[in-house]
Amino acid sequence: MALSGKHILLIISGGIAAYKSLDLIRRLKERGARVTPVMTRGAQEFITPLVVGALSATHVFTDLFSRKDEQDVGHIRLARDCDLVLVAPATADLMAKMANGLADDLASTVLLATDRRVLIAPAMNPKMWMAKATQRNIETLKGDGIGFIGPMAGEMAEKGEVGLGRMAEPLQIVEAVEALLEHGPKPLAGKKAIVTSGPTHEPIDPVRYIANRSSGKQGHAIAKALAALGAEVTLVSGPVTIADPAGVTTVHVERAEQMLAAVVSHLPTDIAVMVAAVADWRVATSLDQKIKKQQGDQPPALQLVENPDILKTIGHHASRPKIVVGFAAETENVEANGRAKLTRKGADLIVANDVSAETGIMGGDRNSVKIISADGIDAWPDLDKAEVARRLAALIADRLA
Ligand SMILES: Cc1cc2nc3c(=O)[nH]c(=O)nc-3n(C[C@H](O)[C@H](O)[C@H](O)COP(=O)(O)O)c2cc1C
Repeated sequence: MALSGKHILLIISGGIAAYKSLDLIRRLKERGARVTPVMTRGAQEFITPLVVGALSATHVFTDLFSRKDEQDVGHIRLARDCDLVLVAPATADLMAKMANGLADDLASTVLLATDRRVLIAPAMNPKMWMAKATQRNIETLKGDGIGFIGPMAGEMAEKGEVGLGRMAEPLQIVEAVEALLEHGPKPLAGKKAIVTSGPTHEPIDPVRYIANRSSGKQGHAIAKALAALGAEVTLVSGPVTIADPAGVTTVHVERAEQMLAAVVSHLPTDIAVMVAAVADWRVATSLDQKIKKQQGDQPPALQLVENPDILKTIGHHASRPKIVVGFAAETENVEANGRAKLTRKGADLIVANDVSAETGIMGGDRNSVKIISADGIDAWPDLDKAEVARRLAALIADRLA
């Protein structure tokens, strides 16, 4: 069982998604984990310690000043005697406490006292998530090395509210836990990596933009696979609807120019994997006001200018990473175009894939790639994108060794 022998301290805070933590406990236990629950006072308004205790088959901790639990300074023991502290759901309130080092109840005190890895699954109304204060707290927590899973986009419990704020599903949280606790060799420990992923959106006016069908699935999987081998990974992601990978620092950008600036600001690194489908062109002057359609007018002509070439810039940069990997999304002459790209862009490896509509690769879950290097071409079979990511991370580790 994937989590056999692992001890997870599960902190449940007071949001509607607390009901999902009941299923989460089951899923973690099914995989062999021991789960010790801590509930905030808020959480107990949504679900009872009785049901949490019944599902976890253990004592549920709720009180910092409990005479029974604190006989041997129990909060410090709780904070240390586990492999991972998981907060699900993480309320805006608890995240604010964590970001500011507050310790006024058992959950926040344990979070301040722990020396274990911490993974949080935020859940809140989209307006609470987007609030400037919450966004500041998120940046602080990411900077402190706290792992995030979610939140996801979708419908809220509140009628008619849609947006970013749903807690990740229990199985997605379990997957993030497994990724963090994965043993395995860490050949990339001490190495830094920068990965780009997703499309870019190039604005035409405040409401319209040029985009492409990239989902970010392949780039995000590569960031996760490099992190699983021990690399310290920064993922620069264009606008996508998938979750930030756990154990990776994710920077969100919209346009190609922002993506380049974010990548360059993270140099030097040992590894660069440029997966994003960066728009080749942007509109010369994007307008501040929406272009109005006037009866009888000709459609507007869009004048396009070339975007910066991120892969080429990194491949020829003064602080060039030791290994530079680029992706070539082609619809014809995949090998020839991939080979030409290798030299032109100054890359060590080009991962070439055929993104013709009939392949279903763009946006899909599988990929069929050819690895092009100075040594020749290696065609990999049709694989799940996560498996492509694992193989590529292993290849990068081999080349760096
Ligand atoms: C019905 C209801 C639903 C709530 N849902 C959430 C939520 O999903 N996320 C959140 O951050 N806060 C939510 N809150 C607010 C928190 O319960 C409140 O901030 C509380 O102080 C959190 O305490 P805790 O962080 O100590 O658990 C909700 C409140 C109510 C009354």
